[in-house]
Amino acid sequence: MPKRPTDHLADAASARNSSPASKPAPLLLPPSPATPTPLLGNLTPSQFMRRYWQKKPLLIRQAIPNIEAPLSRDEFFELADQDEVEARLITHFRNKWQLEHGPFAPDELPSVRQRAWTLLVQGVDLYDDRARALLDRFRFVPDARLDDLMISYASDGGGVGPHFDSYDVFLLQVKGKRRWRISAQKDLTLQAGLPLKVLQNFQPEEEWLLEPGDMLYLPPHIAHDGVAEGECMTCSIGFRAPSTGELSAQFLYHLAERGESAGDAGALYRDPQQPAVERPAELPAALVERVGAILAEIKWNEQDIASFLGTYLSEPKPSVVFDPPQRPLNEARFISQASKSGIRLDRKTNLLYNRRFFFLNGEEISFAGTKKWLIDLANHRCMSAKRFVTLSHDSSVTARLHEWYRAGWIQVGEFA
Ligand code: SIN
Ligand code: CO
Repeated sequence: MPKRPTDHLADAASARNSSPASKPAPLLLPPSPATPTPLLGNLTPSQFMRRYWQKKPLLIRQAIPNIEAPLSRDEFFELADQDEVEARLITHFRNKWQLEHGPFAPDELPSVRQRAWTLLVQGVDLYDDRARALLDRFRFVPDARLDDLMISYASDGGGVGPHFDSYDVFLLQVKGKRRWRISAQKDLTLQAGLPLKVLQNFQPEEEWLLEPGDMLYLPPHIAHDGVAEGECMTCSIGFRAPSTGELSAQFLYHLAERGESAGDAGALYRDPQQPAVERPAELPAALVERVGAILAEIKWNEQDIASFLGTYLSEPKPSVVFDPPQRPLNEARFISQASKSGIRLDRKTNLLYNRRFFFLNGEEISFAGTKKWLIDLANHRCMSAKRFVTLSHDSSVTARLHEWYRAGWIQVGEFA
């Protein structure tokens, strides 16, 4: 078992949570669309999106030179022990794939000296500012598509087996080495009876050994297998791609929740012409026809679709719990503090907008007057002290920001 002195772990925990004493991670601005960047092998984000995004794999050597893992191994293991965290342990001992779901206490993990196991934690960006800062480097893709940052730790020989994903992913090596083999094979049949998705016939076409700072971009459905050479850590920056079924179902649910059904939603079904029947179990054809007519009356416009997407996509994941300040500043002190140090969105906050609406953590919010500052806050995820001062004369703005601060949705203090 890994030796993990508890006092060290306690330090790690307080460093992760933004306590007043801890400095937030520096804001690493995403590259602008027309600027070549090492992150994308000296392509501009525009070139990358045109040539590779959703199209073909790209290996990028030294995408982030001198990278450091956002979490040490001990911090990572400690994270996997938290109740709210989505952690999985995959072992491949004696040629048998096994999957267990966390949380995992330290003594429930295999020894780091044992070969062929891997621990994966989803959504690390929600728990750690450094992971969130790493995810932010990929904001040349819209936030509406950006999902989360997953970290995997693998002992020598560890991996999740050859498989494919249904979403785009950047696989960034942050510690140690991992050998990736990939294939654009058409046969994506999975081995039956396994607790995880492992391809039956993996036929690798290309192979690379990735070292810290190297990164592999894969579009959906490219078969891949990453095996650790010595212990290693890999960050996966994943993108969400809801299915059309999920979108339609959620949209209809959204319409229903807003009470936007056909005509008079409260009107009761009536059938004054219904004759007496001999076959009571038979569904009346007139009923089907009438309900068809009611459903055909359901109408929606672009505004309803934007409102659905904004609230749906900005909704925090079910496991997310915000941490409101324990001793919140009153509004006057909040204004005075933010005027000195600015504000930033909490790492768990989602803020999206379109031409007409803003969507904050699943809520559609309305604002009278100019909203340039809110657009900038959404895009930069922070606001300088100077900018805050120019807004502070508007009490409706400061009252709203104070409300969000009290909810734990924004923090006082810019990025370092
Ligand atoms: C891993 O990090 O081990 C798996 C990531 C992936 O294949 O998507
Ligand atoms: Co994968």
